[in-house]
Amino acid sequence: MLALALVPAFIGEAHFNAQSYSLNYQWTPERRELDYVRQTGASVETAKEVKIFGLNAFLIERYRTLSERFYAANRALAIRRAGWGGLLTALGTLGYYVAYAFIAWRTVRGDFSIGDLTFLAGSFRRLRNLLENLLMGFSQVAGQALYLDDLFSFFEIRPEIVPPPNPRPFPVPIRQGFVFEDVGFRYPGAERWAVRHLDFTLHAGEVLALVGENGAGKTTLVKLLARLYDPDEGRILLDGCDLREYDIEQLRAHIGVIFQDFVRYHLSAAENIAVGQIDAREDRGRIVEAARRALADEVIARCPGGYDQVLGKRFKTGVDLSGGEWQKIAIARAYMRDAELLILDEPTAALDARAEFEVFQRFKELSAGKTAVLISHRFSTVRMADRILVLEAGQIEEVGTHEELLAAGRRYAELFELQAAGYR
Ligand SMILES: Nc1ncnc2c1ncn2[C@@H]1O[C@H](COP(=O)(O)OP(=O)(O)OP(=O)(O)O)[C@@H](O)[C@H]1O
Ligand SMILES: [Mg+2]
Repeated sequence: MLALALVPAFIGEAHFNAQSYSLNYQWTPERRELDYVRQTGASVETAKEVKIFGLNAFLIERYRTLSERFYAANRALAIRRAGWGGLLTALGTLGYYVAYAFIAWRTVRGDFSIGDLTFLAGSFRRLRNLLENLLMGFSQVAGQALYLDDLFSFFEIRPEIVPPPNPRPFPVPIRQGFVFEDVGFRYPGAERWAVRHLDFTLHAGEVLALVGENGAGKTTLVKLLARLYDPDEGRILLDGCDLREYDIEQLRAHIGVIFQDFVRYHLSAAENIAVGQIDAREDRGRIVEAARRALADEVIARCPGGYDQVLGKRFKTGVDLSGGEWQKIAIARAYMRDAELLILDEPTAALDARAEFEVFQRFKELSAGKTAVLISHRFSTVRMADRILVLEAGQIEEVGTHEELLAAGRRYAELFELQAAGYR
């Protein structure tokens, strides 16, 4: 009877555990949004715009609306849980007292002695506690196990970029270069081709510039080179073999990419540079040399803490840098590694004219014998490249040297003239 009386409460618990799990699960997008709004409203990165555009009220309002809806849903569940829980527990308690009354009645009738009554009452209470704890413990574990399911389904997600079973070693140095054979790629879930019908060769040892309007596919091409994605159509060859046949770790270790949206780590200046080759983070000489090459040494010299200065405003001792200063730090990362292929995706957009010129002079010198890809909207930079590839809406428009393309009088010449006209 005792065990039976506890069953309803146990079932109720299990039911409400499942309900609360599914509430949390269903509200995942809203909970993420809540988190995002909170971060946007309170982080250093967004503070400027939030103040200038006066977004406080807007963000607070959005946070309030969302959190009130979430709170209401949670409260409704909590009330039902408390109501039903109380009722079902009362049932269990009732069972206990009925059994107790039954023993008392039989004692009064003379079936049990007073000693029996005392013994039974004591063991009864303990048995009830034991059973209750057992069942509640069990339902708690079962409730948590629901969340464990999420963990396991997370583990089941397999990476889409997989290394081959018998990977080829990365060629050092690269002998022929990269060949794109009718390469096409769509971002997962996108209908539009980001790039398509790419057919060209990136020769070993050359500096190739990518030019094209916003959204033309320059960054996408770089991501394909670094195998952050595999092409959906065609293939990319490195020294005659498909990129997919190479060891992915080695491939990435030999490619140095600085993306246009590089990360500003709120770590020390030295660590900010060392992320380019994180296992060399103790090698101060190498870090200083990389900083020198990227003109970041002067930036660091101005910091009160030098190379140990924490950058960014997140931490109390942090010092923030200007956009161009951050960019110099990011460029230094590229020089931390002995990359066979160096890729700079608009690395100088925030640099002043002199710094840009110097950075590229050095880049040319230092990338001698190395293959390099350069993305820039500034033609003063682009013309320093050995060859220029012009992309238009994901396709190759033209390829050639600066002089050839100017002579051709097509898109490149048009864009170049447009920019040059602004300086006259
Ligand atoms: N992660 C992504 N998911 C879906 N579509 C994307 C993604 N990244 C880029 N795209 C789309 O792919 C196309 C090419 O983008 P890409 O970033 O390669 O342009 P880009 O030439 O580097 O432009 P920009 O000069 O502005 O840097 C664009 O139309 C863009 O909207
Ligand atoms: Mg880009």
